[in-house]
Amino acid sequence: MIADAARSRDIPYEGLSGRRVAVTGATGGIAGAICAAAAAGGASLVIHGRDAKALDRLAATLSKTGAEVQTVPGDLADEARDVAEMIAAAGPVDVLINTAGVYTPGTLLSVDVDTICQDFDVNAASAIATMQAVLPGMNARGRGRIVNVSSGGGSFGEGLATGHAAYAISKAALNAATVLGAASARGDVKVNAMCPGWVRTRMGGQGAPRSPEEGADTALWLATLPADGPSGRFFRDRRAIPW
Ligand SMILES: NC(=O)c1ccc[n+]([C@@H]2O[C@H](COP(=O)([O-])OP(=O)(O)OC[C@H]3O[C@@H](n4cnc5c(N)ncnc54)[C@H](OP(=O)(O)O)[C@@H]3O)[C@@H](O)[C@H]2O)c1
Repeated sequence: MIADAARSRDIPYEGLSGRRVAVTGATGGIAGAICAAAAAGGASLVIHGRDAKALDRLAATLSKTGAEVQTVPGDLADEARDVAEMIAAAGPVDVLINTAGVYTPGTLLSVDVDTICQDFDVNAASAIATMQAVLPGMNARGRGRIVNVSSGGGSFGEGLATGHAAYAISKAALNAATVLGAASARGDVKVNAMCPGWVRTRMGGQGAPRSPEEGADTALWLATLPADGPSGRFFRDRRAIPW
């Protein structure tokens, strides 16, 4: 099903035209596919990245489609609040996709607590900061979509990724923040989390079975949910999975 969805990528996701879509970690693999699909669908983009040159190159590429692109540089390990404020200041955000993420291997006993805290800042706290920055405006306008790119590694129901403590803890926290974000949403505002599966990116490695476009599909589907769509849920391959 996902492969079919990816093959139909030349057909833009419905509902993005004229929307302002903000994407964190936009210079990453899955986020790159999200940005390309959003631009093809007629969205304007607010793209965040920590590598200013790579961010400018991405903006130039996306602009060639005719999309309006604004850039927000910043390291989410220590500038998340500034990044969140800049995203909100770019103009009313219709769709927020928190994609930035870091992966550090190691069990609870082998990974340093400072590393766990740093991964938490990037994987969870930054998404909390961006939600705090844009969710009130979405609530006031009565419409919005927030998608947190999480991982089955942070799912209690899937057993947590016990060999990857920093990642599992931070993604479980991101999942909790998603539930709390959904509880704070009003009107036609939806907050969901998704797992992209194992994807060929710098994080996933070249041995992963899924393309970035396949990894991006469920995030874009959640970004374009109709008013009667779900909120406060966790998805993979457009299907609900356990927290
Ligand atoms: N790939 C998989 O198999 C897989 C599986 C499950 C979940 N995910 C999730 O999918 C999301 C996207 O990952 P990906 O596979 O596309 O990996 P990726 O290509 O490595 O992208 C990760 C992105 O996060 C950014 N980032 C990392 N640390 C940052 C920091 N301190 N400040 C700002 N940005 C930072 C990276 O910036 P730079 O470009 O500057 O490095 C990059 O843009 C992540 O949240 C990841 O946990 C991926």
